[in-house]
Amino acid sequence: MSNMKINMNNLDDVLKSLNSQTLRVCVIGIGRIGLPTALSFAKSGLETIGVDINQKLVDNVNSGKFPLKDEPGYNEIFDDVIKNKKFSATTNIENAVPNSDLIVLSLPTPMDENNVPDYSALKTVASKLSDILSPNSLVIVESTIEPGFIEDEMISIISKSGRLNAEKNFFIGVCPENANPGEILHDFTNLPRLVGGINSDIAKIIKSIYNFVFSVELVEMPNCKTANAVKLTTNVFRDINIAFISELSLMFEKLGIDTNKVLEAATKKYNFQVHYPGAGVGGPCLPINSYQLLNTAKRIGSNLSIIESGRKINEKMPQHVIELTMNAFEEIPESLSTSHILILGVSYKPNVKDIQLTPAEEIIKKLQEKNVIVHIYDPYFTSTEVFGIVIEKNIEDIISKVDATIIVTAHNEFKKLDISLFKQMKHPILIDTRGIIDPLFAKEQKLIFRGLGRGE
Ligand SMILES: NC(=O)c1ccc[n+]([C@@H]2O[C@H](COP(=O)([O-])OP(=O)(O)OC[C@H]3O[C@@H](n4cnc5c(N)ncnc54)[C@H](O)[C@@H]3O)[C@@H](O)[C@H]2O)c1
Repeated sequence: MSNMKINMNNLDDVLKSLNSQTLRVCVIGIGRIGLPTALSFAKSGLETIGVDINQKLVDNVNSGKFPLKDEPGYNEIFDDVIKNKKFSATTNIENAVPNSDLIVLSLPTPMDENNVPDYSALKTVASKLSDILSPNSLVIVESTIEPGFIEDEMISIISKSGRLNAEKNFFIGVCPENANPGEILHDFTNLPRLVGGINSDIAKIIKSIYNFVFSVELVEMPNCKTANAVKLTTNVFRDINIAFISELSLMFEKLGIDTNKVLEAATKKYNFQVHYPGAGVGGPCLPINSYQLLNTAKRIGSNLSIIESGRKINEKMPQHVIELTMNAFEEIPESLSTSHILILGVSYKPNVKDIQLTPAEEIIKKLQEKNVIVHIYDPYFTSTEVFGIVIEKNIEDIISKVDATIIVTAHNEFKKLDISLFKQMKHPILIDTRGIIDPLFAKEQKLIFRGLGRGE
């Protein structure tokens, strides 16, 4: 490693160091987003070190074991950059940071059990940087944060040791991450990225670095808080629109209107953007992002009543799934409290292995509170235990032992199922929370069918 320190405030120096591949990168937090990010920097020829507190992850990386098996394309990149010694990992932040010119933060920003955003990882690392960051380094925050977090919190924490002064001898900016798990390589090389800096010179320097590494459209924002506001606005837009359609679908159910038919036709209107109703909204982004904006509003005395209502609606949808199920049980002699129910899909969204904040958890908990014996099949989780339940190996072996099935996640595999399979259940109750079964076809098959938002 060269010991030459690059002045990250000087565009010419940065461009030279990119072209000569002498710019040294440190990515802190090498999880779902941070590891592919670090690998992309290394693949562009820049010497990159990944820092993480997870010793097992660091050991796996250094012994050549790639942990993200469901990210197509990155396994090969990982093998290449490990072989070329462009990338390695460490838990030793004190060594890694002072030897780097660019520090990229991809730390988690979850929320606690009271839905309060938790920025402790970013604050802990910022506090460390205050002691160990080399003068003239650049810090880029990719984590999803509230507008104002850089300006109001990060800068003062990094400056607190008195060694570093923002815009004088350390520089900071943001490039919020918006990749989709399972498609990260595709998204990193195609989706436009937002860039915000402590000043416009820094924004331009960040653009030149990301252009070198990712070659995608880079949208320069006037400052960090505006870039973070855009990131949250786009995700919260989805959370609210799903809530809107979910609430409408509850009324359509009562009116005998099929929400699927409404949405199919509504998309013909030139400016309608379709969102679908469902059992709830989970995952590492949308629910948290709504609570991040609500947290900002609370902090500064603003009111975001639509986001608040949207969250309430989305969080009530699992209860509606229980009500549909109870209603279907009225048609059979078996009581819900002595029944066995099969849940199809536990992931928070189709075709990924991810149960973070999944509505399936709430549905399962509510069924268990009613003494239901719950079984689960999910092709992404076979032979593991999820929420204390051993996942079935296949549908065929369990289907004849249950009284009802609830489709919670629209995995492609479920869309291809032969619907007559459900006739093998003890009582043919099928609840579809994702609009993938045609209600008329279900009726023809003599199933006791309830579709979320599917009035007939
Ligand atoms: N996963 C997504 O779909 C997605 C999409 C866009 C944006 N984001 C955002 O990207 C950020 C990272 O998310 P992620 O999904 O990669 O999280 P993750 O939990 O997969 O990875 C975070 C990593 O940081 C490490 N870490 C935690 N505290 C640390 C510390 N003090 N020092 C060093 N390492 C530490 C963890 O061990 C983990 O490996 C979050 O702000 C998230 O909101 C995530």
